[in-house]
Amino acid sequence: MPSSPLPTAVIGGTTLEILVADITTLRVDAIVNAANRTLLGGGGVDGAIHRAAGPELLEACRPLGGCDTGSAKITEGFRLPAKFVIHAVGPVWRGGTAGEEAALASCYETSLTLAREKNLVSIAFSAISTGVYGFPPERAAPIAVGTVAEEIEKKPGSLARVVFCCFSEASAAHHAAAFSSLAPR
Ligand code: APR
Repeated sequence: MPSSPLPTAVIGGTTLEILVADITTLRVDAIVNAANRTLLGGGGVDGAIHRAAGPELLEACRPLGGCDTGSAKITEGFRLPAKFVIHAVGPVWRGGTAGEEAALASCYETSLTLAREKNLVSIAFSAISTGVYGFPPERAAPIAVGTVAEEIEKKPGSLARVVFCCFSEASAAHHAAAFSSLAPR
């Protein structure tokens, strides 16, 4: 049974949309990786991005000296169709009382700051922390969508397109539900 069409939202000059796709295939200015603090690769989307980008990505990450949880760093995309990779380090879910929600929001804020600094036009986010790191997807999606919407409204920049790249219909449904609670702008 095909699912209902996924919603979009327009905030200023930026269109927010949801895709179910492998983020390594997206031809956007930057894809946002769900990395770990070492920035030296791993499994999940991190592993997929490093495999698709090729070994130069790891060589570009080594000198960055890692990255704190809630922050992000940017590299070239090398063999990926995306020009850049923004490596965001999400929180490990510890039950919700250890600042996880703020740290997750900070990943999206920092990624958008990096995108603005590079005058990027398009960006695709993976669903940070909702895999291995165990962040409940139904709680992560409204944080992701709400943070991006607020940041773009407060600090309009070069972005014309923001994609929430989901790896399952279930993840897309959580993001679609979060779109429906966006205040009309
Ligand atoms: N494209 C898009 N999304 C993907 C892809 C892909 N190719 N592969 C996985 N995902 C999705 C997962 O389904 C999940 O929704 O990315 C989301 C994040 O899951 P993880 O990759 O497990 O990342 P996270 O939960 O943030 O855990 C980070 O896992 O891979 C390691 O090095 C990484 O230690 C870090 C930890």
